[in-house]
Amino acid sequence: MIYLDNAATSFPKPESVYRRIDEVLRTKGGNPGRSSHALAIEASRVVFSAREAVSRLINIPDSSRIVFTKNATEAINIGLKGILKPGDHVVTSTFEHNAVAKCISRLEKSGIECTKVAPDEDGFLSPADIGSAIKKNTKLVCVSHASNVFGAIQPVAEIGRVCKSKGVSLMIDAAQTIGAMPIDVRALGVSVLAATGHKGLFGPQGTGFLYIEEGIEPEQFVDGGSGIMENELELPERLEAGTMNTPGIGGLGAGVEFLLSENVSKIRAHEERLLAFVLKGLSAMNGVTITGPMEAAKRASLVAFNIEGKKPIEVGLRLDDESGIMTRCGTHCAPDAHRQALTWPEGSARVSPGYFNTEEEIEAFLKAIRKIAAK
Ligand code: ALA
Repeated sequence: MIYLDNAATSFPKPESVYRRIDEVLRTKGGNPGRSSHALAIEASRVVFSAREAVSRLINIPDSSRIVFTKNATEAINIGLKGILKPGDHVVTSTFEHNAVAKCISRLEKSGIECTKVAPDEDGFLSPADIGSAIKKNTKLVCVSHASNVFGAIQPVAEIGRVCKSKGVSLMIDAAQTIGAMPIDVRALGVSVLAATGHKGLFGPQGTGFLYIEEGIEPEQFVDGGSGIMENELELPERLEAGTMNTPGIGGLGAGVEFLLSENVSKIRAHEERLLAFVLKGLSAMNGVTITGPMEAAKRASLVAFNIEGKKPIEVGLRLDDESGIMTRCGTHCAPDAHRQALTWPEGSARVSPGYFNTEEEIEAFLKAIRKIAAK
């Protein structure tokens, strides 16, 4: 079995992640923040220590600005629906994942205006185009750090500078980049960051987080939680109503600690090497077209591609059946990105190497694709 679907969810996880989840369930099984006995305090420590680890990773001083969520989609919903109000304007791109696209489409029905900026043919946004789309009532610019179809890493620092010069906050969807490349939110000028926990952070599924800069106070999204009156609640608890996924958050914390001790730049360098190998191999094959930039350094660790005359779904099934290679083929919950890439409605095949993949596995993948493309 060769797992090359890390853009959907990373597999395997570091051993420390499996161990932490087991340890939390067996020995720290109280309800964090709900009781004052020893097990509840242990559970609170698990959550706090994961919050601190995430804060170190994105370089913020106050971990109370990290809100744990069940995934990036929930984080995006809390951010967009909590910040934008009728009469506000938001700038986004024409190639967002459904998490952003559907959320904004619902907001448009309740009086929020939106401008979508198109990228160049490789999937890169122009910071100047974003600047031109900003209007008097623009509250937020919300774009993916790297699309799960194009892979192009957006010039976030430049976009951040444009936003700052116009007094607008920048929110990024970092589902495909968090943990896979260094992200310093303050250096990048990012005010809000939505992330998943189960991809680059090596946490389990059912985890994610939202970072919100001080001064931005999104409205409560899910009602409930501790405290008596709404105005008594502060971040992070105000946006974390209900009992938390403590074992999952513990696993997420262990994943982030693994990243911090291993070094994110080392992880990025390994994935970039594998990406370069994939790009070189695929681009040498007749009838194979690649979506997004050809330089590995400009991409998140994923490559969407099409083989002339083959349906992406068929490519995925054959990779799995004939070679035990797991990829994600289809439309990747991102119809807008595939429309932009002109690969709608069939979508693409997509290979996404992770930190635990090897060059031999990429070679096996390329060999399998050569066989599929040849027939
Ligand atoms: N959005 C995730 C992906 O790209 C699940 O596969």
